[in-house]
Amino acid sequence: QGLPEGLPEGFDATDPDLLRDRVPFPEFTRLRQTAPVWWCPQPAGVTGFEDGGYWAVTRHADVKYVSTHPELFSSHENTAVIRFNEHITRDQIEVQKLIMLNMDPPEHTRVRQIVQRGFTPRAIRNLETALRDRAHAIVEEAKRGTDADGTFDFVTRVAVELPLQAIAELIGVPQEDRSRIFDWSNKMVAYDDPEYAITEEIGAEAAMELIGYSMNMAAARKECPAADIVSQLVAAEGQGNLSSDEFGFFVLLLAVAGNETTRNAISHGMHAFLTHPDQWELFKRERPATAAEEIVRWATPVVSFQRTATQDTELGGQKIRKGDRIGLFYSSANNDPEVFTDPERFDITRDPNPHLGFGGGGPHFCLGKSLAIKEIELIFNAIADALPDLTLAGEPRRLRAAWLNGVKELRVRTSA
Ligand code: HEM
Repeated sequence: QGLPEGLPEGFDATDPDLLRDRVPFPEFTRLRQTAPVWWCPQPAGVTGFEDGGYWAVTRHADVKYVSTHPELFSSHENTAVIRFNEHITRDQIEVQKLIMLNMDPPEHTRVRQIVQRGFTPRAIRNLETALRDRAHAIVEEAKRGTDADGTFDFVTRVAVELPLQAIAELIGVPQEDRSRIFDWSNKMVAYDDPEYAITEEIGAEAAMELIGYSMNMAAARKECPAADIVSQLVAAEGQGNLSSDEFGFFVLLLAVAGNETTRNAISHGMHAFLTHPDQWELFKRERPATAAEEIVRWATPVVSFQRTATQDTELGGQKIRKGDRIGLFYSSANNDPEVFTDPERFDITRDPNPHLGFGGGGPHFCLGKSLAIKEIELIFNAIADALPDLTLAGEPRRLRAAWLNGVKELRVRTSA
C-alpha cells in the first residue's frame, strides 16, 4: 500500500508530537481522501512491542462499522493505547483485561448490564443538584483566587475539579476521603509528557490503592446496604451483581475514563469559546442545549482507541488479517466532511451532531456520556453566570500524550 502521497516519511498517527491545535491535522484529511484504511508500519524507534504496525481507520463510516462489529473486532487486547511505550508492559495489558473496556461479549454484556443501573437518566438527574452547586462553588473559588496579575490557570482551577467530584458523588465517596481518591486518580495516567514525572511504579501503586479502597467500600455495602449506587451494584453476590473485585476494577476505570476525558473537553471548550467570541456571546444569551455535544466533537478528548481483528476480514477495500491491530481515529471521524458540514467551524447550534467523541456506537459506547454532557453544561452555565467576561491570557500548553487530546495549562483573565 505504501505511504500515501503528501504524508511525511515515517508518518505515524499516534506520534504524540503530532498532537497540535485541536488535532485534526491535515494528514488525517489526506488519509481520509486517499487511504482511509491505511497500514501504518511499526513506527521507527517505538520499542517494547514487536507485533508490527496497525491499520489507521480515519473515516466516520469505517470507525462506526468497526465499533459496532465486536465479533470481528475484539476489545480484548488493550483498547486504550495503540502506541506502546515504556509505560506499558505485557503484565499491565493482562491486568487491564479485568476492566470492561477490554472485555468482549458475553462477558462484557453481563458487566455492562449491571453497571448500567448506576447511569440511568434518573441516577444522573439525582446528581444534578449536587453537581450544580459544585460547579458554582468551583467557579466562585477560581474567581476569588486569581493570581496578582488577575489571571488564573483554568485547567487546574476549574476543569480538573468537577469531573473528580462527579465520580466521587456518583459512587458516594465520603467528603473526608475525596482528596485521596483525587490523588490516586491523578497519578494513574502515564503520559509521554516529561513534565509529569509519574513513573510506572507510582501509577501502579495508586491504582492498587484505589482498587483496595473501592473493594473495601463494596464489602462494607454488601454487609450493610445503603441507598446508594455501590449498594445497587454489589448487594447480594450473584449473577446479577458485581463481586467486590469487579467493583474495584470498575471504579478504577471510572477514575481514568471519566476524568481526563471530561477535564479536557472542558478545557478545550473554554479555549474554543474564548477564541470564538460570537459563540460565547450566543452561549451566554441562549444557552443552547446543543452546545455540549459540539464541545465534545470539537475537543475529541480521546483521539483514538484500538481493536484487534478476530478473523480475516475486509474493511474499506483492504484485507485485514486475524490478529491485526486497528486504530480508530475519532478525531479524524469527527471532522469528516462526508458527515459534518464545515467541520472546521465551531458551531454550538450544530444539529444533528453525530460525532464519535464518545465512541462509534456498539457495546462499548461511553457509559458516562449523559454524566459528561451534564457536567459540561453545568460548568459552562456557571462560568457564563459568574465569569462572563473571561478572556484568554496566553496560548494553551498542550499535553504530550499519544491518545489523549489534553491541555495542561490555559491561562485566562477575569475582568473583575
Ligand atoms: C467508554 C469517551 C466521559 C465512563 C468510552 C469510550 C470513549 C469515551 C471514546 C470508548 C467507546 C468505545 O470503545 O466504543 C469519553 C469522553 C468523555 C467521557 C470524550 C467526556 C467528555 C466519561 C465519564 C464516565 C465515563 C464521565 C463515567 C464517570 C466510561 C466507561 C466506558 C467508557 C465506564 C467503558 C464502557 C464499556 O466498555 O462498555 N468513553 N468518555 N466516560 N466511558 Fe467515557
